[in-house]
Amino acid sequence: MSENDHFASSKKEFDKTVLVTGGAGFIGSHVVISLVEKYPNWHIINLDKLDYCSSLKNLASVEQRANYTFTQGDVCSPYFINHLFATQNIDIVFHFAALTHVENSFRCPAEFMRVNVDGTRVLLNAARDSGVQRFIHVSTDEVYGDSTGRAFDELCPRRPTNPYSVSKATAECAALSYWKKHELPVIVTRSNNVYGPHQYVEKVIPRFISLLQQNKKCTIQGSGLQSRHFLYVDDVTEAFLTVMEKGTLGEIYNIGTTCERAVTQLARELIQTVQGLSLDADVDGWMEFVEDRPCQDLRYPLIFDKIQGLGWRPRVSWEEGVRKTIDWYMHNPHYWLDPEALEQSSPPLPEHKHSNCSIHQQLEISSIDQRSGVSSHLTE
Ligand SMILES: NC(=O)c1ccc[n+]([C@@H]2O[C@H](COP(=O)([O-])OP(=O)(O)OC[C@H]3O[C@@H](n4cnc5c(N)ncnc54)[C@H](O)[C@@H]3O)[C@@H](O)[C@H]2O)c1
Repeated sequence: MSENDHFASSKKEFDKTVLVTGGAGFIGSHVVISLVEKYPNWHIINLDKLDYCSSLKNLASVEQRANYTFTQGDVCSPYFINHLFATQNIDIVFHFAALTHVENSFRCPAEFMRVNVDGTRVLLNAARDSGVQRFIHVSTDEVYGDSTGRAFDELCPRRPTNPYSVSKATAECAALSYWKKHELPVIVTRSNNVYGPHQYVEKVIPRFISLLQQNKKCTIQGSGLQSRHFLYVDDVTEAFLTVMEKGTLGEIYNIGTTCERAVTQLARELIQTVQGLSLDADVDGWMEFVEDRPCQDLRYPLIFDKIQGLGWRPRVSWEEGVRKTIDWYMHNPHYWLDPEALEQSSPPLPEHKHSNCSIHQQLEISSIDQRSGVSSHLTE
């Protein structure tokens, strides 16, 4: 049976079809699992290119389910995406697929614009032509830019400060323009930082845990005074399902938390827990301060009353979320098979990505590769 035959026969049995892009990545995989389990009468299609930060192991618990299909593909390919929409009667889209590592976005900004903006445009076009009921576009708190004091509500202007957040801000403008111009039923979410099992080791929490597991120091960029708000992945998954079920079309929803940690404080807590040290133990020897990256935003506090009005709120405490996350990395020390990723400032972009950059960008990349030391990565 061809892939398409499988798709077609599956569809007949199901009430709705949901397309999740980037479903083999960190957040997308949790959302796919939740959808597959919660809606047995819906067909959940996971579309992912399987980039270095993704893994089909993330989907092991659902891979045999009758209402789940994985298809490997690129959101930037109009032929592939148009064919998928033309043949699958897709009702709901969750668009998670993106290049997500801020550090890489400095190395190759054009690639971030291509995947995050043009890939979104390809999807929006196909969704408009096929008449979907919901297009949930996943954006980020980083589009607001730095906050020295005030918390951001959804009406605050976008002031992105790095190539990643610029690409995300541009993509959400494109999504909202399809709502305005074509009445495509778009909803945009902007979430604080998310943590939990399955996250690739380049991001700050799994990175610190993995370094400590190997008895290595936590490397901290700059002063370490920059802070982030952290949401456990189960909470953010619930938020996406809430927005799907109750969100208003054309609206933006912040998905936020009051749980804020400065990077040094985060490192201290993880060092104490992973190394089993007492609260008053001296942990400074486990921290190493390295050069900061350009344009490091200090913090992204969010006002998230609007999504709380839909009945959602974060439920997993920081203590519980961190304990579950550390447990998972302790039990899965070789999950991400490339320990060298920890030794580099950023994992290498795949060959074709470098080759998509201009000669100038390639020179930039190689000079940054040479300069970079081991460092911590806050987002995304
Ligand atoms: N992790 C966070 O803290 C956070 C916070 C706010 C918003 N977000 C947003 O949530 C989404 C998911 O983030 P994540 O942390 O799970 O990222 P991730 O890097 O773990 O996953 C991204 C997924 O997208 C896939 N992908 C990349 N390019 C693709 C392409 N061209 N075609 C198809 N698939 C492609 C990758 O293979 C990967 O599976 C992103 O849009 C990100 O901007 C993340």
